[in-house]
Amino acid sequence: EQDNEDEFQKSLKEMISSLLKGNSWGLPDHLYHYQGFWLTPTFLQGVMLAQQQFEAQPTDIILCSAPRTGTAWLKSLIFATITRTLYDDSTTPLLFKTPHDVVPFMELDHAHFSANRHPLLATHAPYSFLPTSIINSGCKIIYICRDPKDTFVSMYHISFELFCEGISWYGPYWDHVLRYWKASLEHPNKFMFLKYEKMNEDTVLYLKKLAEFMGCPFSSEEQQKRMPEKIVKMCSFKNISNLEVNKSGKHREGQGNLEIENKIYFRKGKVGDWKNDLTPEMSTQLDQITQQKLSGSGLSF
Ligand code: A3P
Repeated sequence: EQDNEDEFQKSLKEMISSLLKGNSWGLPDHLYHYQGFWLTPTFLQGVMLAQQQFEAQPTDIILCSAPRTGTAWLKSLIFATITRTLYDDSTTPLLFKTPHDVVPFMELDHAHFSANRHPLLATHAPYSFLPTSIINSGCKIIYICRDPKDTFVSMYHISFELFCEGISWYGPYWDHVLRYWKASLEHPNKFMFLKYEKMNEDTVLYLKKLAEFMGCPFSSEEQQKRMPEKIVKMCSFKNISNLEVNKSGKHREGQGNLEIENKIYFRKGKVGDWKNDLTPEMSTQLDQITQQKLSGSGLSF
């Protein structure tokens, strides 16, 4: 079996080396263009391994998103909701583990593919890259997206021109969003499509909708005890970004290029922060691309 695995990794490496190479943004890993999207080799290999090995179960809940759109926030809200009979806001593992350590990533955490794994899994993979078992099983998909202007600013170290051209992690960003949007219209029972901005406006309302969608609605007793409000407060930017684990801890410690400081995931957590960073020309240019790309789709920002 190890030989097969090595052979698979070798053929993947060969395939990747033949792909169009993009920018590395000063980071160790370059982006490569594969089937319309830009991914680093580590993530691309991870997605392809998942396509081969991951067997989704009807009870699974898959959190999908492009990077910097609210993934960690969604992970914490969903994790706190589905574990609410086990923990409360004084005992939840979220107090000492960063959200990325409580909900694994499909591309990287293959050890979690085992039969007795957690039903919650996250991925940045574009829709067309999802393992077929995710599409065909009865599992549910929750997708979050965000105004491209805030998403770009949140990526801070990315060049504006290249973001506009689509050369960003798992980019083009607009294509990532649009494909999930279309799939959510085609399969409304399988999908819940969220926007960061809407979630921010009324997080309690959306958390209740999410719990219903996942088949674990808040009972009237839970609502009386203000459980949704407590979860929202615990997962709020102010609270979660101030936990010691998220101020000074590390994610994937010892895993080379993948090691990252948890604080990177918690910058400002605001809607419309782009106004402080983008010139009017940049904002107009991004709006034009957004309008052009999303035109006729029924989706707007
Ligand atoms: P900003 O850079 O605009 O602050 P992701 O988790 O997909 O990488 O997204 C990161 C973005 O979500 C960052 O946006 C981060 O600050 C914001 N974020 C993280 N935790 C949050 C929370 N609890 N509430 C709202 N936004 C949050």
